Amino acid sequence: MASQPQKLTFPSDFLWGAATASFQIEGAANEDGRGTSIWDTFCRVPGAVVNGDTGDVACDHYHRYPEDIELLRILGVKGYRFSIAWPRIIPQGRGAINSAGLDFYDRLVDLLLANGITPYATLYHWDLPQPLQDAGGWPNRATVDAFLKYTDIITHRLGDRVKNWMTINEPLVVAYLGYWWGIHAPGIKDMKAGFQAAHHVLLAHGQAVPIIRANSPGSRVGIVLNPNWTDPASDSDEDKAAAHTADGFNNRWFFDPVLKGEYPADILAILGDNAPKIEDGDLKAINVPTDLMGVNYYTRAVVAADPTQQGGARMEHPEGEYTAMDWEVYPLGLYNLLMRLKNEYNTPPLYITENGAAYEDVMTPDGQICDEKRQAYLESHLAACHRAIQNGVPLKGYFVWSLLDNFEWAYGYSRRFGITHIDYTTLKRTLKQSGAWYGQAAKANGF
Ligand code: GCO
Repeated sequence: MASQPQKLTFPSDFLWGAATASFQIEGAANEDGRGTSIWDTFCRVPGAVVNGDTGDVACDHYHRYPEDIELLRILGVKGYRFSIAWPRIIPQGRGAINSAGLDFYDRLVDLLLANGITPYATLYHWDLPQPLQDAGGWPNRATVDAFLKYTDIITHRLGDRVKNWMTINEPLVVAYLGYWWGIHAPGIKDMKAGFQAAHHVLLAHGQAVPIIRANSPGSRVGIVLNPNWTDPASDSDEDKAAAHTADGFNNRWFFDPVLKGEYPADILAILGDNAPKIEDGDLKAINVPTDLMGVNYYTRAVVAADPTQQGGARMEHPEGEYTAMDWEVYPLGLYNLLMRLKNEYNTPPLYITENGAAYEDVMTPDGQICDEKRQAYLESHLAACHRAIQNGVPLKGYFVWSLLDNFEWAYGYSRRFGITHIDYTTLKRTLKQSGAWYGQAAKANGF
């Protein structure tokens, strides 16, 4: 590493960061007044999560956050993206506020700032308070109002020090995986509910923006979307049409309302009765101008027409390199996507808010993790970012997913995305080779 000449240098204001999310790392599920989230409940559903893993302890970040901030400091990253657990702040989802929860994020933010690390806070990374789900969850419009109240409380408390806010993480995953396909909490399988949930999380984003701005003067606010670059399996008209539709569901359904104030007509037509109920003013609210936008990128989709399949298409598995998630390593998709956002949408400044890879790590007898594949993944995707910047994309920063190995949702602890290894028995943190490389790149502003 050290002997290689530096090839790629990033703009001097490029932000190097690392990301996590509350439920995936915090643990302390029953401490200091935290309420129950839909993920606590889902983890108890037999068969829902690999090995029956739960978030009860996770990385114990709730107690070990000073150690984790020390890791960030040693790495030399300048930004830390974390999320706030709504059930710690308002345990019942609406109503009484839990001051111990507010105090925790106070301590976290203060220690970050004391170490010269800029906090990037996400308000919703999937841990909906269970009582709100019991009242209908995201398909129920009243959940939007509960979110706005929570937003008001937390941004009022932290808004003097946190100046970078992300509203909702990945509306697609919240809505499709949680309410349409039922593979994430709350495990509902209902297409109509899924699209109503998608509309409401977007509305929650749009209506939260002015509240955050009022409580956190001078802050920058935006949403985090997770586009998949989508390629047709061949040049045939059928495959191209299938890919265009898949792109509509995966990407345009979210980018168009946020950046253009409209839902794509072709997808609305396909949805028919499953289209969401939209009230006057909703799309205008969703289309609120923002200061930044987060993009989470992991892989691409390759789509072939297939009339025997539901939806008339199937996902192909082209030859190539795959991660432990069975996701294709495809950095060109990240480049293509960034160029498309620049060319087709009037985007605010962009951040890669998540990018990374799960691999099966092996610890050597002397306690090292030589995760060359993860390092190569990060290198190739950062190179794609660099190329996009050269070509005029307003990309301002990159957050590696993830600072720590953590609870990978329905996969439990069986998939490791960290640049830091967690021993789930002792909770010992060990920086991996990829982490050492990433820290060097961050400090050198290139590699
Ligand atoms: C995401 C999730 C992360 C996942 C990561 C890997 O936003 O999709 O934020 O929580 O762990 O994407 O699947």
